[in-house]
Amino acid sequence: MRVALLGFGSVGQGVAKILGEKDLDLTLTAVADSKGGIIDPGGISIPEAFSRKAKSGTCGRPKLSALDIVNSDAYDILVEVTPTHIDDGEPALTHIRKALALHRHVVTSNKGPIALAHRELTDLARRQGVALRYEATVCGAIPIIHTLQHGLLGNEVKALFGVMNGTCNYILTRMEDEGLTYDQALGEAQEMGYAEKDPTYDVKGLDTALKLVILANTVWGMDAGLKDVKVTGIDLITPQAIQLAMDQETAIRLIGEAIPSKDLLRVSPRIIPRNHPLLVEGTLNALTVVTDLAGELTFIGKGAGSVETASAVIGDLLFIRERYAGRP
Ligand code: HSE
Repeated sequence: MRVALLGFGSVGQGVAKILGEKDLDLTLTAVADSKGGIIDPGGISIPEAFSRKAKSGTCGRPKLSALDIVNSDAYDILVEVTPTHIDDGEPALTHIRKALALHRHVVTSNKGPIALAHRELTDLARRQGVALRYEATVCGAIPIIHTLQHGLLGNEVKALFGVMNGTCNYILTRMEDEGLTYDQALGEAQEMGYAEKDPTYDVKGLDTALKLVILANTVWGMDAGLKDVKVTGIDLITPQAIQLAMDQETAIRLIGEAIPSKDLLRVSPRIIPRNHPLLVEGTLNALTVVTDLAGELTFIGKGAGSVETASAVIGDLLFIRERYAGRP
């Protein structure tokens, strides 16, 4: 199947790298970033896209935009991995709406459109007979959406809670282990490509809140939004608070919780005992799912990172290829 890739930052480059290295029977026929795009029905040269990006700042050519690509007939699956914008989900929301309206499948890591318009977009995809998959929006490499939608079928999910932001976890871990200042640790997380383009989304807890909304809307069919989540970030946590927690054999972690029976959606820094399963280090995420049949399950894996997040995008692409192109 033919893939168009919108976004050539950390996640987009990870996706392109994997498509270039593995023989997945998927052809990258279009790619764009915010400064330009390129279409090649015979298959984009991925090394050339990387070298154009390094030399000129865009993976494509200035005359072709992401929207031109969405409106073209060059692709079967749109991969939307442009940066998240919390307020209106744009420009990704328009890209996704248009692609679905054109009967194209969509795979995205972009939390804005899925958190803002989950019901509208999933209804549109269903009506158009195409797939909308968004595994990469939550907990990076952990296949949590697939597990909730497929692996745990028949279970009632009673609650979800855990560490869902790699950047915050990385910052807290670096402050604990190396005594780095908050600004130093955040700078490192930005350099490594873990943080959002606007890192206040991470440290103020908004990124975790978006993930919580996406999970709640997926699992319980809620129509929740950011306004329904009580949010406190890690930006005001002092080195002294971190040291105090360490002195007591505990640590501070940013935890998201969703408990529908209590009408609770909350993100806040919590003190966790050292031996607790949610006490993970670095960019790891950890998510506990409480169910009636399977009991409690805790999933741990890299929550941020180029190839790790691209792993979730690739999984969605292959799921669509298998289901719609009939290939194993
Ligand atoms: N900025 C996000 C994080 C990326 O640090 O978790 C993955 O959603």
